[in-house]
Amino acid sequence: MALKAPNYTLLPQGETDPLTSTRQRTQVNWRRLYQWAIPVILSIAVILALIITNIAHTGTDSDWDHHSSLPACPQYPALVSSTGNKKFEKDVLDEISSEGFFGKSVKRMQGAVQIPTESFDDMGKVGADDRWNIFVDFHAYLEKTFPLVYSKLEISHPNTYGILIEWKGKDESLKPYLFMGHQDVVPVPKVTESRWKYPPYSAHYDDRFIWGRGASDCKNVVIGVLEAFETLLEKDYIPERTMMAGFGFDEEISGWQGAFYIAKQLEDTKGKDSFELIIDEGGLGIKEMYGSMFVLPGVGEKGYHDIKITVETAGGHSSVPPDHSGIGILSQIVSAIEAKPYAPNLTPINPYFTTLQCGAEYGPSMDSWLRKTIKKSLTSKAASKKVAEYLSNDNINQRYLMQTSQAVDLINGGVKINALPERVFAVINHRIAVESRTKDVRENIQTLLQDQILKKFSMSLNAWGNVSGNTSSSAVGQVILEDFDEPLEPSPVSPFDSEAYKTFTGTIKQTFGEDYIVAPSFMTGNTDTKYFWNLSKNIYRFSPVRDDGRANAHTVDERVGMKEHIEGVKFYTQLIFNGDRK
Ligand SMILES: *[C@@H]1O[C@H](CO)[C@@H](O)[C@H](O)[C@H]1NC(C)=O
Ligand SMILES: *[C@@H]1O[C@H](CO)[C@@H](O)[C@H](O)[C@H]1NC(C)=O
Ligand SMILES: *[C@@H]1O[C@H](CO)[C@@H](O)[C@H](O)[C@H]1NC(C)=O
Ligand SMILES: [Zn+2]
Repeated sequence: MALKAPNYTLLPQGETDPLTSTRQRTQVNWRRLYQWAIPVILSIAVILALIITNIAHTGTDSDWDHHSSLPACPQYPALVSSTGNKKFEKDVLDEISSEGFFGKSVKRMQGAVQIPTESFDDMGKVGADDRWNIFVDFHAYLEKTFPLVYSKLEISHPNTYGILIEWKGKDESLKPYLFMGHQDVVPVPKVTESRWKYPPYSAHYDDRFIWGRGASDCKNVVIGVLEAFETLLEKDYIPERTMMAGFGFDEEISGWQGAFYIAKQLEDTKGKDSFELIIDEGGLGIKEMYGSMFVLPGVGEKGYHDIKITVETAGGHSSVPPDHSGIGILSQIVSAIEAKPYAPNLTPINPYFTTLQCGAEYGPSMDSWLRKTIKKSLTSKAASKKVAEYLSNDNINQRYLMQTSQAVDLINGGVKINALPERVFAVINHRIAVESRTKDVRENIQTLLQDQILKKFSMSLNAWGNVSGNTSSSAVGQVILEDFDEPLEPSPVSPFDSEAYKTFTGTIKQTFGEDYIVAPSFMTGNTDTKYFWNLSKNIYRFSPVRDDGRANAHTVDERVGMKEHIEGVKFYTQLIFNGDRK
């Protein structure tokens, strides 16, 4: 809030000239004093008042009020048996733990990793680009490997290569669970092939890991879910609740041909809010933190916004240039943007706030100052600010869990060394904090250009069709702001007190350890779930693989531990059993 300019109406209007006599002069000096002293005193009073109200306001913000109704780090107990047949559950899980199953699982994983289902950034549409054909092989492989899934369950193929599986439950009144994953993998660049310990599509098994592209992102998820389904079908199990699986095929290039169509088909056939629970890959892992074992499922994702900035200026011969060419102006814009990054901000709306509360509550080795300040931030905005500052300086990954990021990732301009560039552009990638919206990012950049660039250069600014600045034809040129592609708002935050969450986290503890702490976490990237927001409030991103058992997703030597993979199959199986709870 800006202070208003001092108000001079304390003096009567229409005074005589202050210099007409000595007496008058003395009087006038007093008046002058009043003129200055009173406004100064008033201003100081206003500033003090603002400071005091600000301090008093700390902790009474509605965001803070809202959070205080929940425990700082909600924990729910490990589930025991949900089907009512403990022995059956144990027999199935024992079988999954057997050596025989392990050996078969190694083969199933190897076969899946050996099919290079790469999705490329410049991929054309399905049907128009032959590079999609590899998914025919992958589908044939799945059909051969999981014969009961393919013969007993309903399978459909949204947009040709999507896979949607429906396993009808006995009780149609229960909302289904949906298990998600993606069939595609990040391509292996030719130049990196020689750096792999084992060739990326050999799927070598060294008695510990399966090595290869897609081993941990996320053929293990697809195969793990299907192994759970197939094993239960072998035992003639029929769930109470309908279970579905949906596997896209272009998650690594944003999912608009795969997951988008799967979500659309589900919304058309089942309707909005028709799923009890959706589980996809993701989360921040299963690992030791602050002296305890933590499981960190993702309950929300940042937004995404690419903004294109184009500078158009008059061309001409570069022997008689203006002081700043289009490239020069664009450079100043980029500098101005980079000089003003977003600031870290940690509010209870952010799932990371809860991750930290869990660390403070259950992590014995957390630094005592940090623990105290995190706990204090439950009711104090000022404490929360200290935590945000401390953590963002500590580690860059932590920082971007608490603020919008901005990165100038593309730049283009100039065609000839002796010609002034007429059109140059840069594109800025933003990952939007959970408290913000795409509109805030647009406004921020528009205001920055108005305040800094239009004041310096006589130009017009066309910000998403809203034109300001110097629009005359004699102006230096124009700056255009527009969306580079479809932006994405931050996801809704899935609840961590719903029945679905209790079942989901109760299954985690049942599988990984009763004493494990489940801490809701926040993701800086996006999964295919971005198309599924309408289908369920309970969307959880969680790859059920311990951190020790997975490495190097998206880079050389990607791998997954088989022991950990088996544990993941048990998790999926257990979650299906626990779906029987009513
Ligand atoms: C155009 O931008 C100005 C800020 O420069 C803003 O106040 C105004 O609301 C915008 N108009 C529209 C139609 O968006
Ligand atoms: C627009 O820019 C031209 C060229 O610099 C200048 O002559 C003119 O006065 C400017 N008009 C306004 C409204 O600022
Ligand atoms: C969700 O529903 C809204 C309202 O019907 C619709 O506009 C939107 O496109 C849907 N979102 C997705 C991701 O399909
Ligand atoms: Zn993935």
